[in-house]
Amino acid sequence: MVVEEKKVAIVVRKYDPKTDLSGVEDVERRCEVGPSGELSLFTDLLGDPICRVRNSPAYLMLIAEIIGSEEKEIVGMIRGCIKTVTCGKKLSRNGKNNSEAIPKPVPVYTKLAYILGLRVSPSHRRMGIGLKLVRETEEWFRENGAEYSYLATDNDNQASINLFTDKCGYAKFRTPSILVNPVFAHRVRVSSRVTIIKLPPCDAEFLYRKRFATTEFFPRDIDSVLNNKLTLGTFLAVPRGTYSAESWPGSSRFLSSPPDSWALLSVWNAKDVFTLEVRGASRVKRTLARTTRVLDRALPWLRLPSVPEVFKPFGLHFLYGLGGEGPRAVKLVKALCGHAHNLAKERGCSVVATEVSNGEPLRLGIPHWKRLSCAEDLWCIKRLGEDYSDGSVGDWTKSPPGLSIFVDPREI
Ligand SMILES: CC(C)(COP(=O)(O)OP(=O)(O)OC[C@H]1O[C@@H](n2cnc3c(N)ncnc32)[C@H](O)[C@@H]1OP(=O)(O)O)[C@@H](O)C(=O)NCCC(=O)NCCS
Repeated sequence: MVVEEKKVAIVVRKYDPKTDLSGVEDVERRCEVGPSGELSLFTDLLGDPICRVRNSPAYLMLIAEIIGSEEKEIVGMIRGCIKTVTCGKKLSRNGKNNSEAIPKPVPVYTKLAYILGLRVSPSHRRMGIGLKLVRETEEWFRENGAEYSYLATDNDNQASINLFTDKCGYAKFRTPSILVNPVFAHRVRVSSRVTIIKLPPCDAEFLYRKRFATTEFFPRDIDSVLNNKLTLGTFLAVPRGTYSAESWPGSSRFLSSPPDSWALLSVWNAKDVFTLEVRGASRVKRTLARTTRVLDRALPWLRLPSVPEVFKPFGLHFLYGLGGEGPRAVKLVKALCGHAHNLAKERGCSVVATEVSNGEPLRLGIPHWKRLSCAEDLWCIKRLGEDYSDGSVGDWTKSPPGLSIFVDPREI
């Protein structure tokens, strides 16, 4: 039997929204199908596949296209972005008389690239397309001066782990936890012993730069994250009777006379970027969920932990820049999460999510449902070149993890 060989070429090129949207959405749809009989999570990028990188200082989206003699078909895509982040810290004497000043830790920055949204159509896997997409993206990273590249993947995604570690030279680096809490039909009670103050973006920036700039992955352009319209606010929690919105003196004076404990976090409105939907749930499960919801709505004083509506498209809020100081910081974080829950409820979101380092001491204050959360999100990293601006840190890929990590909401 003679099999006529069709001549096809695989071309990797930049995504063009005018011609490629439906092809890309098609690949996304085919990649989301979970194993039969199981639940799968469908992501709707609301007609804008670049949305997951668009808010970064530099970004790129590539597609892989099969070109045959008669037809063309998009079969894969990848997104990448670059920004400057903290990769470590060093001690610096920053006074007029350098020999007398007490050395302070200051951040060491590096240019970091991030890979996300890599997808290859199930019908075209194991043909080297994923590898080609990664290599071309890394080429763009190098041309734009990135010193490291990283990505996050599920701990059990063997295809992705093999592709990045075996074929592309990435190493397993950090394993933060994604903590997800449902938004109930009732409001969560926030402790009356806590005052929550919404900070203006310039005060929020001052606090973050003064206290959290040495946290690993802290973005040097934190101001553009805080001023982005997707940031709904930065909230500071203090013990009642210390500070209030009326007596707020500004971050500089606050830090010169802080209360014994305080905590803060910022809220990112991911609902305007993408929606999620749980598919494949049986009618019984859907009915049970709906019943808890109806009861919670009818009897809010019972504070039932009702299951939110996740079987049709729903939005989420992402909590970032979580930090605090003092013996009561965990309690203050809990109050902030309650406040964030109520904000998400007002704005029609179904879940609130955040991502924190494994060693994060404040995670005890973050309410979450284990079944919705991911204990270990695997981050892999690679050094892209030989010249580094991080001489005092050495090779970041070999450094031990810190207690905290800054998870940038632009990359969720
Ligand atoms: C991960 C994914 C992008 C790989 O795409 P692909 O085009 O099939 O990958 P390639 O053909 O370039 O494979 C390169 C290497 O990756 C590894 N790999 C790819 N698929 C694999 C699998 N199913 N099992 C084990 N290793 C696999 C192998 O080392 C492979 O090299 P080999 O074929 O010489 O053994 C694809 O499986 C996919 O779209 N998965 C769903 C979405 C996803 O998980 N994205 C990654 C999120 S970070």
